[in-house]
Amino acid sequence: MPFVLASVPTFALEGVDAREVTVEVDARRGLPAFTVVGLPDTAVREARERVRSALLNSELEFPLQRLTVNLAPAWVRKAGASFDLAIAVGVLAASGQVPAEALEGCAVSGELSLGGALRPVRGALPIALGCTAAGIGRLVVAPEIASEAGLADELEVCAVPDLRRLVELLHGRWTPDPPPRAGSDSETSSRPVPDLADVRGQSDARRALEVAAAGGHSVLMVGPPGAGKTMLARRLAGILPPPTIDEALDITRVQSVTGGTSGLARERPFRAPHHTISAQGLVGGGARPRPGEITLAHRGVLFLDELAEFSRTALEALRQPLEHGSVDVVRGQVALRFPARVLLVAAANPCPCGVGGERCECGVLARERYRARLSGPLIDRIDLVCHLTPLPAVAVAAAAAAGEGSEAVRGRVVAARDRQSARWATTGAACNAELAAGATRLLVSLDDAAARPLAAALDAGVLTGRGHDRVLRVARTLADLAGAKRVGRDHVAEALGYRAVAPGRTAAA
Ligand SMILES: Nc1ncnc2c1ncn2[C@@H]1O[C@H](COP(=O)(O)OP(=O)(O)OP(=O)(O)O)[C@@H](O)[C@H]1O
Ligand SMILES: [Mg+2]
Repeated sequence: MPFVLASVPTFALEGVDAREVTVEVDARRGLPAFTVVGLPDTAVREARERVRSALLNSELEFPLQRLTVNLAPAWVRKAGASFDLAIAVGVLAASGQVPAEALEGCAVSGELSLGGALRPVRGALPIALGCTAAGIGRLVVAPEIASEAGLADELEVCAVPDLRRLVELLHGRWTPDPPPRAGSDSETSSRPVPDLADVRGQSDARRALEVAAAGGHSVLMVGPPGAGKTMLARRLAGILPPPTIDEALDITRVQSVTGGTSGLARERPFRAPHHTISAQGLVGGGARPRPGEITLAHRGVLFLDELAEFSRTALEALRQPLEHGSVDVVRGQVALRFPARVLLVAAANPCPCGVGGERCECGVLARERYRARLSGPLIDRIDLVCHLTPLPAVAVAAAAAAGEGSEAVRGRVVAARDRQSARWATTGAACNAELAAGATRLLVSLDDAAARPLAAALDAGVLTGRGHDRVLRVARTLADLAGAKRVGRDHVAEALGYRAVAPGRTAAA
């Protein structure tokens, strides 16, 4: 036979998705050679050395032929060592050491050690979901990531420790144990989330957090040092509803490509990047695009403490992702989309000295400069702004004056969310904050009395068009929390009260 062609399906990671790549191996008589084509990066080209050693050290034959490996489609950039296994299997099939029929409907993904052992790769869950989408019924991976891959439905995941075992498997002489089901209770010990019961006083801020959680609204807390802003924000994750199955898969998918998971995510992420973070660190990107903090916080909370200290470019970079719930990164000819649906919570002092109000010692100029750092357009994307005052002495002194606990608040939040998901079932929005602008105006109707304060605010120029829609959504959430069918005048008035006046201005007021 002059030549043999083998083809093996595998996957390349693109953002948090996996794209199917076919590894073709052509073996023909001639001077022994081993070439890899199809846009491979250095790590993929080095696969030749690993594959050769892995085969020989597994007592398999490395054919002394002209071997050409093609990774198709050629325009997809291939990076990393995850193609090792597919190349090795292709070589085995092309040299008749495994039956080609066994590779039909069977994808493989793994790095190889020189000794022939399979090593885990990043993105096992997206790869497994990619298999399901492509109609591939079987996936071979290293045992370490098998249970993560097993989160995908209707996929036989084979946990294979090394090449020898894989050959046995493909000959039908060995069957691996099914991987343990990921996310069993013993595996995922939930990390303790601080409780709202620890917070004394600050009833306005508590209310704002509850509204934020109930409708998915972004929130900014402004107040003097030590008022409890950071403390409150850290308790936001504890009052959010637990993730649905789809949301849990979304969260796990991101964890899967950024460094492994311990089964299906049970909790929403809470990310609090330091204010020195770069724009790229916050929204992602780079020559080899990595997800940023906003993607790591997908379906959870992104907390920007000391908002005014963040660089302006970093804050500006947040604008588009906050609006769209995703980050678009373009590299070469390929556009990647990272998910970025977060609940944004931010904290800031009212002015550089932090005191604000009448006792503020900052000059007018310093206050103005501080205010300018919070870009107007970002503030316009924040639904709820609440002002904290220093705790009165009685509240500090009263040892037992703890507030309502997170569990009770979460109960109300979940009830409000249930109303929203039932009402917006056909629109694709999971909560009020996700409702598109057009749908908001169409579907959140106000009677005359409720519409009047809104019209007045627009006429007076204190509300932008975007602000108008945001007030409507917040008012809808307030009605949902109250169990009201229609949005009333009180709901609109309270929602208007949360509209932003940038922090510096309150100090000047
Ligand atoms: N409302 C409160 N109830 C209970 N403890 C509080 C409250 N406010 C502040 N504290 C105590 O003060 C500490 C500091 O609070 P926190 O860090 O939340 O203040 P902050 O408003 O973020 O201040 P800064 O502007 O300096 O960041 C808390 O760890 C807590 O012990
Ligand atoms: Mg703080």
